[in-house]
Amino acid sequence: MSEEPEKGDQRPRADLDKVLALFGCTRITEDIVTRVEHVTKQRAHRFLRRDVFVAHRDLNLLLDAYVSGRPFYVYTGRGPSSASMHVGHLVPFLFTKYLQDAFKVPVVIQITDDEKYVFRPDLELGACVAMGKSNAKDILALGFDPARTFLFSDVEYIHRLYPTVLAVQKAVTGNQIRGIFGFDGSDNVGKVAFPAVQAAPCFPEAFPLVLAGCPRDAMCLVPQAIDQDPYFRMARDVAPRLGCPKPALIHSKFLPSLQSATSKMSSSHPDPKTSTIFLSDGPDVIAEKIKRHAFSGGQATAALHRELGATVDDDVAYQYLTFFLEDDAELETIRTEYAAGRMMTGEVKARVITVLQDLVGSFQTSRVGVTDEVLAGFTAERPLEFA
Ligand code: TRP
Repeated sequence: MSEEPEKGDQRPRADLDKVLALFGCTRITEDIVTRVEHVTKQRAHRFLRRDVFVAHRDLNLLLDAYVSGRPFYVYTGRGPSSASMHVGHLVPFLFTKYLQDAFKVPVVIQITDDEKYVFRPDLELGACVAMGKSNAKDILALGFDPARTFLFSDVEYIHRLYPTVLAVQKAVTGNQIRGIFGFDGSDNVGKVAFPAVQAAPCFPEAFPLVLAGCPRDAMCLVPQAIDQDPYFRMARDVAPRLGCPKPALIHSKFLPSLQSATSKMSSSHPDPKTSTIFLSDGPDVIAEKIKRHAFSGGQATAALHRELGATVDDDVAYQYLTFFLEDDAELETIRTEYAAGRMMTGEVKARVITVLQDLVGSFQTSRVGVTDEVLAGFTAERPLEFA
């Protein structure tokens, strides 16, 4: 997952088309969605059907391995840069939970409290660790299977990761790191060292106990927002040197901010009230934000709107429905009616308000149950179940 570039964070923020074209990710096409449905014997997640997950690397290879009986595990993570997560942050985790249920595979979740500490000049380590704990509880509120999920803070788990981190560090030069991440001589060396820490969990040997049931040649699948790809290009480059398969990757686009369908939702926006729906927002706050701030692709007057219809691609409320409204038929009706000017912006907003209120409301209900004890259960080192 990722944030808006923050002060002191000089990594390049890859833009979708650039990454796809430059680095040769593969587009998610209907064939691969159909294949996933065939292999899992269930309907693909709406994020796959609707092009929210837009690109991948080696997903076909991973599916080949899976159907031939070779297990894989899923690895994803979160950099805890704010105490309150927003609805955009849910995207990779909702998808990871679907993968866990559909493929019955183990999931490891990295909380990069170390990353935020070295990248953010303003943050103390204690604050990063504390935000990590709070974000971890938010993530666990999505209902991950305790028998198949291990969540770890880098600061706490680093002693286990370290041999793999070292192997990655030994296989990558400073020039490579500089080339991939754009650091220069003035960046602190914590930043330069960090990519190996994010790459290490791609390799099963980083989890001697947790993935004890998993062969060393098991593949890893990494759901991620598209801007994380550089870390995993690096991981794929070094994999052969570690004697491990290259991790397969699957990339999501960003949930737009309230203000524009082409921007991305972020918690570090100067005025988050006008851009961001937080997981802590109550139903009235959600309604208010959508009504007042969600950019409309509709026309300036009702008469003009009936004549010309809405530009749904620019309409933030409609875009949110593509992410979060489950019903394909209803979504299609809204799209055609709104584009034809028979449905008004207010009606589309009213629908997305209920969808988001339901999503955030049920999140908040489950979040109450994620106590310190529940968190401790997920962070305890224990062998995860393999199908
Ligand atoms: N660097 C990511 C962030 O800033 C966190 C992260 C760590 C991650 N490991 C990951 C994201 C694996 C996706 C996949 O949010």
